[in-house]
Amino acid sequence: MKFFIDTANLSDIAEAQALGVLDGVTTNPSLMAKEGVTGSDAILAHYKKICELVEGDVSAEVISTDYEGMIKEGEALAALHPQIVVKLPMIANGVKACKYFSDKGIRTNVTLVFSVGQALLAAKAGATYVSPFLGRLDDISTDGLHLVKEIRHVYDNYNFETQILSASVRNTMHVINCAKIGSDVMTGPLSSITGLLKHPLTDSGLAKFLEDYKKGNG
Ligand code: E4P
Repeated sequence: MKFFIDTANLSDIAEAQALGVLDGVTTNPSLMAKEGVTGSDAILAHYKKICELVEGDVSAEVISTDYEGMIKEGEALAALHPQIVVKLPMIANGVKACKYFSDKGIRTNVTLVFSVGQALLAAKAGATYVSPFLGRLDDISTDGLHLVKEIRHVYDNYNFETQILSASVRNTMHVINCAKIGSDVMTGPLSSITGLLKHPLTDSGLAKFLEDYKKGNG
């Protein structure tokens, strides 16, 4: 399973990259605003910085909701850097734009997906990635992982090439369960990745090894 980090924070991205396990980055307008990145020039410059920090795909989201606007914005984003994947919302114009970009060989990530039907539409429009938001489904007391499982089943039935990018991952258990289910990618905050390192038996075992080494070696 590929690990993407879901942030526009450059130091978090650099830390995940330094760990050697990062495959890409996802961003959204809220994450860009959280970093204080505003105005189209600054936003484009920030995407470029992210692309220079990592080797994998970087999802950059359009903010237009009309078809022409999405095409214009998506083309500008795709031209910015070869690692950019155009992120489009799951609305009718987003599906149309996804088909347009996939016909042109421009990679896409269809976002804000909350049902199998939406995931089916994204795949049929040729999306590179589909992003079911499992954390947000959990937030409203539904089962986000169940949706990922159902999308996996439907995509496997027809050998769709669209990759399932489990998004809105909030914690390490989400990451592990996504891997068990067969999600192609997961995207979450830095803590969902670094949290995988933690086990008290690793810490106590290492402390004992070092203590015993010191006893014998001074
Ligand atoms: C996906 O690409 C989104 O950026 C994201 O995962 C949303 O996560 P949230 O529900 O934690 O905001």
